[in-house]
Order: sequence, then structure tokens, then C-alpha cells
Amino acid sequence: MERVIGIDLGTTNSCVAIVEESVPTVIPNRGGYKTTPSMVAITEAGKRLVGHIAKRQAITNAENTVHAAKRLIGRKWSSPQVKNAILTAAYKIVEGPHGDVRIHLRDKTYSVPEISAMVLQEMKLFAEDYLSEPISKAVITVPAYFNDNQRQATKDAGQIAGLDVIRIINEPTAAALAYGYGKTEEKTIAVFDLGGGTFDISVLEIGSGGVFRVIATAGDTFLGGEDFDARIIDWLVQGFKDQYGVDLRQDRMALQRLKDAAEKAKCELSSQNETEVNLPFIISSSRNEALHLQRTISRTTLEGLCEDLVERCIDICKQTLEDARLERDEIDDVVLVGGMTRMPKVQESVQDFFGRPPNKGVHPDEVVALGAAIQGAALIDDSKQMILLDVTPHALGIMTYGSNFEELIPQNTTVPTSRSKIFTTSRDNQTAVKILVMQGESQNAAENELLGEFILTGLRRAPKGQVEIEVTFEINSDGIVSVSARDLETGQQQSIQVTASSGLTKEEVGQMMEAAKEYLVDRRASDAFEGARQEAEKLITEIERMFPQVEHIVAASDFGRDAISKARTILDRVRQAIGKKDAAAVKEQMESLARTHRMFKGVVARPNG
Ligand SMILES: Nc1ncnc2c1ncn2[C@@H]1O[C@H](COP(=O)(O)OP(=O)(O)OP(=O)(O)O)[C@@H](O)[C@H]1O
Ligand SMILES: [Mg+2]
Repeated sequence: MERVIGIDLGTTNSCVAIVEESVPTVIPNRGGYKTTPSMVAITEAGKRLVGHIAKRQAITNAENTVHAAKRLIGRKWSSPQVKNAILTAAYKIVEGPHGDVRIHLRDKTYSVPEISAMVLQEMKLFAEDYLSEPISKAVITVPAYFNDNQRQATKDAGQIAGLDVIRIINEPTAAALAYGYGKTEEKTIAVFDLGGGTFDISVLEIGSGGVFRVIATAGDTFLGGEDFDARIIDWLVQGFKDQYGVDLRQDRMALQRLKDAAEKAKCELSSQNETEVNLPFIISSSRNEALHLQRTISRTTLEGLCEDLVERCIDICKQTLEDARLERDEIDDVVLVGGMTRMPKVQESVQDFFGRPPNKGVHPDEVVALGAAIQGAALIDDSKQMILLDVTPHALGIMTYGSNFEELIPQNTTVPTSRSKIFTTSRDNQTAVKILVMQGESQNAAENELLGEFILTGLRRAPKGQVEIEVTFEINSDGIVSVSARDLETGQQQSIQVTASSGLTKEEVGQMMEAAKEYLVDRRASDAFEGARQEAEKLITEIERMFPQVEHIVAASDFGRDAISKARTILDRVRQAIGKKDAAAVKEQMESLARTHRMFKGVVARPNG
């Protein structure tokens, strides 16, 4: 049976897992780590770097290193979150052709799903290495509070990466699946997930027989570790300005160093009361003197700087419990997910709010990917009894006259679901009707997220009010919206044109997929070459080390001289093949090289040698 991987595509870190013989397991990356930074960089030579190697060079190549792309995915260029990201990111964010967001690195512009696809492709490669088989199916997680545009864009990213995304699931729900896996007790739990970029809270009922039912969910897709880091950066920048009158923000490299240092300090303050930020030669003064940043920050200071961020999380928890119509003491367990929940202040606040210590039994960095893998396994194997009932985080509706929002599917409705509404023509012989579909909680349509303009076309000509079209709005198990329409009298399906979406067109996704495939071919070839090169060079080095000694021993005989000259030829051939980056030619010479190596070792090892 084909296997399915589960991928937690995080703002800061990504993680991939699989269920092996009923055991959910995290797949380590090539460096042996269980999580991989969701960072992508393009080097000066045009080489793509993903993960730890991208992170390691972020300071010296800040402008061409993308972090936290998830904060931009599926967002409109005009959104306040994008404006905010433009101010803080060291890389260049530009406007795309559909009012979407693109990222400019070196001499190329990439869509955000393309950048995320690079991370996904890497995760896919790790899984293929680990399992020694090609993988095409995946379950990818998204923050529960992601809207349709963000979900679509994530699905596009999967497709670009060459993955068949069989399901998109919500991160806290995935965490609950992993938490409840193999347990039989019935429980009501809250999953509190504060990661690098987003905050989600979900309240679920875990029933016997593997039924997971989400009761309510809410969150904030722009609230996470990045914001905590930003507070520390602001504090450091302000302090530096006060002390030296120099603005560190003018310098991208300084900013990237600050960002690293801020995150490091934040993490240290989870286990220490005080830490020092020390960044020598951070910038030069107007008189060209080197300036150093050195400042001590305490846990109390950090907590003060971030108080409102933690409060926002708790406010959302409050609202979610109300939506779930549950009292705090009806929650049996609070599960903490996400790296930011290591911060003591976050744990304390959660404990104060729910009135019980949170559960620390799950691994906050791995549990989401494990849950995705569990869901993946259940989707392809019917014998794995598990029923997952999730909800839509946002109300779905349409814009009506006067910019009002008419709600069709309320927030927290179990998905999949659908609602229909009848539209009539308002003019004689009207052949088209425009419908604006939106997602959000505001009565004022303009404050909600526009998913698309759906234009019903080719309506039959008739006096006004005589054409009735039934439009069906559907949310599938991925949380993705689709709209269909039919003429009530003739029963005929009406075609729908979607415009004004911030996503990619089918053609664009197709092109990006091709480019990603090409990259993979190149990458595989260069991996193969790299493997062969390393193996060959190891032997070359050893042969060269033995050369003088062997030459000395065997030079007396014709046979020996002949062997030496043959060995030289082989070394030359291998070096040439390496120079041409020709993996096949290197491999072709490997056997002769190994034979020479064995022969040399034999000569050197001879007792009279
Ligand atoms: N010991 C720690 N103390 C405080 N914060 C920490 C600690 N360890 C990690 N973090 C923070 O947790 C965040 C990363 O968490 P995580 O890996 O769960 O996020 P993510 O899954 O990538 O993001 P998201 O789920 O929001 O998309 C980073 O901001 C990181 O600085
Ligand atoms: Mg996460």
C-alpha cells in the first residue's frame, strides 16, 4: 500500500512523520534533526539552500534568505499583515500580478507557495531517504484559523512540490489526534498551540472508538514567536538609539543579527532569569567608529514587553470556551503545542486561566506532524478506525447591498458542509450575476476576507425575477470553499468564473511544478555526484598517501612500474570525471579505484615493505 507522510509546515520549523507498523514516527532530516528550519535561501552562485544550511548563512545573506514565509501565504498585498512584514523582513517583498505577494531573491521573483514548496520538497526528500521509496501522498497541516485563501495557497505549495495533498488538517486537531492516539478514555481537551507565527486554540471531544470532534476553534494567524522576537528587537534598537543615536534598522545585516540574538535571548529566558545580548561590531557610528551592542535582559523585562501578546492568547481562549459553551472546569486536559509554550509566562497564564497545570506529555515540536501522519494512515487504510470531525474557523457568507455581510455558514460548523441560496435576476434579460464570497466574523463585509468574485454567466434571457439560480456554497474536509450554481427551472448547471483571488492560476501552478521538478532532477543528480565524489576522494586521498611508499617498494620490477603507471591513469581519470561533475563517469571508475586502493594497501602491509 502506498504510504502517506504527514507534514507540519511551520512558520519557524517544519517536521515530517509517518506511521510505521502502527507507530507514528518523526523522520529525521539529513543532519539527524527532527525538525528543519522553514528557511530558504539563494546563494550568490544561484544555489538553493533549505533548512539548517539556509539558517546558518542567514546573517551574511540576509536579503536572499526567507524566513516565516507562512506569515505571507495566501495573503493579499494590500493586507495590514503584509505591510507589517515588509517593515521587518530583511528580504524583499513585492506585489504579485493578482494582488498577491511575491518574494524577490537575487534575480528572480517567487510566489509564496513556491517558497513553501521548497521546504515541502525538502521534507519529501528526507522521507524518501528514510523510507528508501518514492513518496507522493501527504497530509499537510495548517493553523486552524487559516482562511480559505491561506488553505488554497498551502495546497498549491504541496502541488508545486510534487505532492498529492490528500488532506489539509488543522494543526491543533492534528495535535489532538496524536495526543489521543491509542487512548480509550473519553475526554474534553483544549489544545493551546503557540508557534513561531500563529496562535490556535481548539476545544475537542475525544470519544471512545476513535472519534475526534472539534467543538470550537479560534486563533490569530499573526501572533507567535516572531512577535515576541520583534518586541525584543524594538527594545534593543531603541536602547541603542538612546545610547549612540544610531538606528540599527538601516542595516539589514545588523537587523538579521539582532533577530537571531533576540530569539536566542527569548529562549534562554525560558530557563534563566537573565541573559546578555552581545553583538560586537554591530554597526559603525557616523564617525566610522565600530559600535558594539551589549545589554542584559531579564525575564521580567521580557514578560513586560510581551504582556499584551500573552493576554491576546488568553482572551481568545476565553472566547473559544464561550463559543464551545463550556466552563473552564469542563476541560479535562490542556495540551500545550508549539515552541513558544516553553515560555514560563505562557505556561503560567494558561494554568491560571484553565485552573489546572497543562499537560506536558506530548512533544510540542513533533506532535503536529505525528497527528498528520496518523490522519494520513487512516485515510488510506479503512481498517484504522478513526473519525475526525473538524469545524470551519470562519463564517462563510456573501456581500449584500450596502456592504453588509450575509452569513451562510456560521463559524464552528462541522465540515464538510454546504448551504444553498437562491438568487434571482434583478433586470430583464440579465445574463450574469456577480456574487462576492467572503469569510469572516464582521457584519461589515469590507472587514472580512474576500475569497473571490464569482460571476454566474450565460443565464437564460427572461424578464427580471424569473430566473432563479440556486447557488451552493460548500466547505470540504480540507476547509476549502467551492461554489456551484444551477438554474432552478431548467436544472442546468451554471458556469462560474472566479476572479480577484489572491492565489495562483492553474497555469502558474503548472509552471511552478515543472520548475520544481527540474530542480529535483538537478538536485538528485548533484546528490548522486556528491555521494560518488566523496567516496572517490576518500580513496584518492588514501592512495596518494601510500603512493611514495608503494612506488619505492615496487619500482624495481617491470610489473611494479606498470602497476604504478596504471594507478596514475586511474587517478587522472577519476579526477577528470570529478572536474566535469560527471557522476556516471566517477562511478564507472570506482571499481578500478577500489582495486588500486586494495592493491596499495596490500603492498604497504607486506612485512618486508
Ligand atoms: N525554550 C523556548 N522558549 C521560548 N520560546 C521558544 C523556545 N524554544 C522555541 N521557542 C520559540 O518557538 C517558536 C517556534 O515554535 P514552533 O516550532 O512550534 O513554531 P512553528 O510550528 O514553526 O510555527 P507555527 O505553528 O506558528 O506556524 C519560535 O518563535 C521559537 O523562538
Ligand atoms: Mg506549529
